[in-house]
Amino acid sequence: MNVTVFGTGYVGLVTGTCLAEMGNTVVCVDVDAAKVERLNQGQIPIYEPGLEELVLANHAAGRLAFTTDPAPAIAHGDVIFIAVGTPPDEDGSADLRHVLAVARTIGLHLGAASIIVNKSTVPVGTADRVRDTIAAALRERGVDIGFDVVSNPEFLKEGDAVNDCMRPDRIVIGSSSPAAVAVLRRLYAPFNRNHDRIVLMDVRSAELTKYAANAMLATKISFMNEMANIAERVGADIELVRHGIGSDPRIGYHFIYPGVGYGGSCFPKDVQALDRIARDHGYTARLLQSVEQVNAAQKNRLFELIAQHFGGNLAGRTIALWGLAFKPNTDDMREAPSRRLLEQLWQAGATVRAYDPEAREEARHIYGERADLVLCEQAQQAVAGADALAVVTEWKAFRSPDFKRLAATLKQPVIFDGRNIYDPAAVEAAGIAYYGIGRGRSVAHSR
Ligand code: UDX
Repeated sequence: MNVTVFGTGYVGLVTGTCLAEMGNTVVCVDVDAAKVERLNQGQIPIYEPGLEELVLANHAAGRLAFTTDPAPAIAHGDVIFIAVGTPPDEDGSADLRHVLAVARTIGLHLGAASIIVNKSTVPVGTADRVRDTIAAALRERGVDIGFDVVSNPEFLKEGDAVNDCMRPDRIVIGSSSPAAVAVLRRLYAPFNRNHDRIVLMDVRSAELTKYAANAMLATKISFMNEMANIAERVGADIELVRHGIGSDPRIGYHFIYPGVGYGGSCFPKDVQALDRIARDHGYTARLLQSVEQVNAAQKNRLFELIAQHFGGNLAGRTIALWGLAFKPNTDDMREAPSRRLLEQLWQAGATVRAYDPEAREEARHIYGERADLVLCEQAQQAVAGADALAVVTEWKAFRSPDFKRLAATLKQPVIFDGRNIYDPAAVEAAGIAYYGIGRGRSVAHSR
């Protein structure tokens, strides 16, 4: 099939590439000429495991092209995906400028009946606005061309996006047009193996499904962070509690890891946007607001522990920071808990020696050169000359350090484990004080 994808961000680039890999001929359109130029030279703008090889192979095979020119791209697509960003507006609602600009461009160039598929995360009712925008542009041109607008939200996780796209656990299609559904069934057939993963529904339900999924996951995390904060106060270990509740299949082990709060491009934005959608429809989403509040407070947690350990005085201290990305296997630092910690440490007069396997360039890009941020090339290098070590991202490379060596290197052997990846007893046995999230016993021990 001939496919056009607007947007070469995470969603657009991964979706377009995976569709090309399945034998479709895909044209990706982006307004960023420099990005398109780099993609055509085989340079991938993001770090995403497995993506580069697929882009290069499909580009070389002539199944994947990148352009800034919408007209031929629109003429090319039997199916046209919209996968552009919906950043939060000042009031928390999703900014639809890019989505509607693409809709207008489609309307201005559409030459034959087509299926427009929206993959961007958008407020409920946006498909109708996309349809109206395309129809208005067609009217301006005085042409009458049939088209369908379908909602097909994505559920890709950064760091595992190619895998999620190739082996989706569900393919949500929101459409009331049997013809459009039949085409999408064909397009997705290679991804839809073993059992039918397609979940058909109306457009609005599909739009809400995306928000509901992310809000549910964010709620699980904030719930566990709240339990961790209670555990800390009552002298319980949240890690044992996590095992205790996760073994109930109704609760499950996934997404109940307490930590320094959720970050990334989706959860913070989508929880806020859903809260806003509810408000716009006259409903106060109390639970969503609490989920956000708990997360906002949780991002301060590691700094609070560090400040408390050092008696409230961090001026002149050096803190080693392992992890800058909002989660492992990505270089993305959007809404990353590391940012709040960095900024709080600087505010308190501390210097940070930071290491991340992938996000160092991103940190340099965000913060520039500054005396109180040393970006290190190796984990051990970050610890050299540091008073304490704080871990905020659970990269595999951080999971089993040489604690004896750390004890010898840190000036004041203490680890602040923002992801509970270490066994407190093992850390303490090496002579290092240990603070985790919601692990009352260890905090007490290290005082
Ligand atoms: C998320 C959804 O998982 C995905 O389905 C959707 O399409 C986009 O948003 P992503 O933002 O890439 O994906 O990351 P995810 O792995 O879900 O993690 C989000 C944040 O939650 C990270 O900061 C992570 O560290 C945190 N998290 C996750 C926890 O703190 N505890 C957990 O148990 C799980």
